[in-house]
Order: sequence, then C-alpha cells, then structure tokens
Amino acid sequence: MVKPKVFITRRWPKEAEERLKKIFDVTLNQDDKVLSNNEIAEGFYNHDALACTVSDTIDENIIKSGKTGKGKIIANFGVGFNHIDLNACKKYKIVVTNTPDILTDATADLTILLMLMVSRRSKEGEYEIENNKWAGWRPTHLLGSELSHKTLGIIGFGRIGQAVAKRAYFGFNMKIKYYNRSKKNIDLSFEAEEISNITELCKSSDFLSLHCPGGYKNKHLVDRDVLNAMKKTGYLINTARGDLINEISLVEALNTNQIAGAGLDVFENEPNINPLFFKAKNLTMLPHLGSATLETRDAMGNKVFENLKKYFKTGEVIDPVNLG
Ligand code: DGY
Repeated sequence: MVKPKVFITRRWPKEAEERLKKIFDVTLNQDDKVLSNNEIAEGFYNHDALACTVSDTIDENIIKSGKTGKGKIIANFGVGFNHIDLNACKKYKIVVTNTPDILTDATADLTILLMLMVSRRSKEGEYEIENNKWAGWRPTHLLGSELSHKTLGIIGFGRIGQAVAKRAYFGFNMKIKYYNRSKKNIDLSFEAEEISNITELCKSSDFLSLHCPGGYKNKHLVDRDVLNAMKKTGYLINTARGDLINEISLVEALNTNQIAGAGLDVFENEPNINPLFFKAKNLTMLPHLGSATLETRDAMGNKVFENLKKYFKTGEVIDPVNLG
C-alpha cells in the first residue's frame, strides 16, 4: 500500500520522527530552518498532510495550494492554532487537528516558574553572579515577594489555567480567582472564585496569569486599562500567546511602576522581541518554552501521529479543531 505523504515543517524529537516514519512517507526539514510560506505551500501541494507548528503562519495561500494539489489535513504540533487561517481551512475543506491535554502540565509548571522568577528577582541575582557583582549576603539584598497566601487571578480557565491554579492552591496556599469569557461548569478539587469582569479580577490579584487563546478575538486584551487596574505590587504572567498583551502599554506600566513586574514566555512577533522590552524594568523573559520538555514534545509528536493514523484509516480524527 502506498504510504500517505507527510510534510513536517520543523524537526521533532528523534523518537517521534521515527514513529511517524514507520507508517508514513515523511519529508523532514533536515536543517530545521524556518521555511518560507512558499516552501510550505509547495510542501502541502505535494503531500497529503502538513504537520506545522506555532512558528509557521499557515495562510490562505498555503491552504489553497494544498487543496489544489494532494493536501487534505493540517496536523498542528501544538495546542494553540491562531497561526492557522481556519476560515480558509473551512473554505477549502481542509481538516485541522491539534494536540490538547498533553502539554498542560509542562506549561503550568513553566507558569509557576515565571511567577517565582519575577517575584524573587532571579534575573537580577543571576546577573550579579555572572558579572562578579555580588557584594555578599545582607538583610536588604534583592528583596522579592512571596507567592504564599497571595491571590492568583487567572484569565482563561481551561485546562492550563486550572492546572496552574491547582499548583498555586496546593503548592503555595494561594487564593484563586478566575475570569472566563464563557460560563464554566467545572468540578474542582480546590476553591476558586469566578469573577465576572477582568477589571475586578485585576484589582484583587497579586499575580495575573493569562491562559486564553490568542487571535483576533483576544488581541491586546491586556491593554493600558487592564494594567492600570492591576495592583502596583502586582505581577503579570503570560505563557499563552504574545498578542494577548499590548506590548507598548506593558513597557509603560513596567517603567512607571504601575505594576511590579512581568514574566513572559510568549511575544507578539516571535522570535523578534520588542526592543523596548530589553530596557524594561523587572521583566523576565523566556523563549516560548512552555511545552519544552522531552516528554511533552514526544507526546505532542505522538498526538500528531495518532491523528494522522486515524485520519488515513477512517477519515476521522481524534482532536479536530472546530472550523466553525
Ligand atoms: C502550543 O502548543 O500552542 C504551544 O504554545 C507551542 O508548543
């Protein structure tokens, strides 16, 4: 039997690639360089499936090209899909899948890491050590702020938001409040208070953490008004999508001490960082590492594999992205 052809835009952990190669005719991006949209369009034209990631912008041109050629399905290596033009997928009847659930723990862990890093000033501490500037222990040195007994406000109370809340509640005795655009009927193993608007949530949160999808509906959800509503001692954390924050307003809020600090794992124009961020006060940044553990990246590859396997066997998929 002829193996379905799969075009992968970026390298995966070895075992995940090997698994895929067993039953598919796989084209790898050997050097793992960022492919141009034309290269991806050509790849989708010549392959039955496109396995892309958040670093690709899958626009109408790519989707149309796939449809004109062999392309049938886009299996995203990641849970977020705001980089894929879903309207065009609907128009050209291209199936889309993603990788929910399996990256929840890794992303929640990294969220807590950023909360700790920014509130305990780890960047400044590391700078002192690396630059031989540590003058020794003293009672007033790099005083930070604790997580314990503080209030964590979460915007977007889906799988990852809840996993962060659970860690904060059980691990750090934090009080949990959340805002979710649609009403949630959830059965939690810990106490959490639903707040009906973002401004109220900001006013009472010591840490505000974003866990909602990116894309045009939530673009710049965190703007000057939201930042102004936060406590001056408050910290903003984002491990979701860069476009949720108006970066100019954030720089302003940091530099005028409107908020105490921010921890970011995602940026609006990744991998290009807004140059103003490099001079902003108390900003800790990581290069989109939320799901970056070997276990999770292997599991993400496996999800893509299982979705494609099912699709080419039955025409159905396990994790369909709703095309509306
Ligand atoms: C996701 O899955 O959406 C991550 O942000 C990229 O791995």
